[in-house]
Amino acid sequence: MAMAQREKITLATLRARKKSRIPITMLTAYDFPTAQIEEAAGIDCILVGDSAAQVVLGHSSTLQATMDFMIPITAAVRRGAPTAFLLGDMPYLSFHVNTEEAIRNAGRFMAEANCDCVKVEGDARIVDTIRALTAATIPVMVHMGLRPQAVHQAGGYRAQGRDAKSGQRLIDEARRMEDAGACALLLEAVPPEPARIIAESTDLPVIGCGAGPYCDGHVVVLHDMLGLTAGPLPKFVKRYGDIRDQMAAAVRAYLADMVDRRYPAAEHCYQMEPGEAAKLHPAPRSNP
Ligand code: KIV
Repeated sequence: MAMAQREKITLATLRARKKSRIPITMLTAYDFPTAQIEEAAGIDCILVGDSAAQVVLGHSSTLQATMDFMIPITAAVRRGAPTAFLLGDMPYLSFHVNTEEAIRNAGRFMAEANCDCVKVEGDARIVDTIRALTAATIPVMVHMGLRPQAVHQAGGYRAQGRDAKSGQRLIDEARRMEDAGACALLLEAVPPEPARIIAESTDLPVIGCGAGPYCDGHVVVLHDMLGLTAGPLPKFVKRYGDIRDQMAAAVRAYLADMVDRRYPAAEHCYQMEPGEAAKLHPAPRSNP
């Protein structure tokens, strides 16, 4: 029997979750089958993160993600997850040049990939962009704290808001983002104390990514929590699987079956109609 489709998750659902203190669940996804799995599991939100540049394409940072790469993968995720709240991640330089370009690119996520919202990384310097996108009826989540697109400016991937001055700066910036029209906030690699003050002093859903237990919801990169990422993980990631090891074991078993001629076996072959095989003969060689 087909599973009854749940109601669409909207911004109103997320606000209601916050109000009734029900954690908002969120993961990244970058393809159709993964989106289907997350949707079937009942996830609230899916972020098609520009982390795809690293975990899917193998780049060393997120700066290599482009609009032309992000749009089709985001549309694929939407096809797999029709009712989840879908966030498209605005890639590096897609919203920095001017507001016209920001609106056009954000609009592509909404119209071509059928997103519910876009996410932009930024600090107080992007409030005009938030205002312009909001005026263009595009819901915007602002990604604050550790901003991977600013890795070169920051001199590495570092937790933010660890002293009172920088913690307070985040708190003040969060208010400015809300005033500019942001519909939600994402805090990456921020200690629980400033994250708590931000989450408790706004009606906006505040999603943490390494920002402690007081946020309204949490997100991590899917490949990290599945154990698909090679190498060390950020401190805040909890692993829920060993998918890399399982895939490696399956690939090794496939190779071994082939080398030892266990695959393909009779059950993997199409049968000719009775008596037909006897009528076959080798084709004559053509003259060189
Ligand atoms: O790109 C991404 O996956 C993200 C998450 C780490 C929040 O921005």
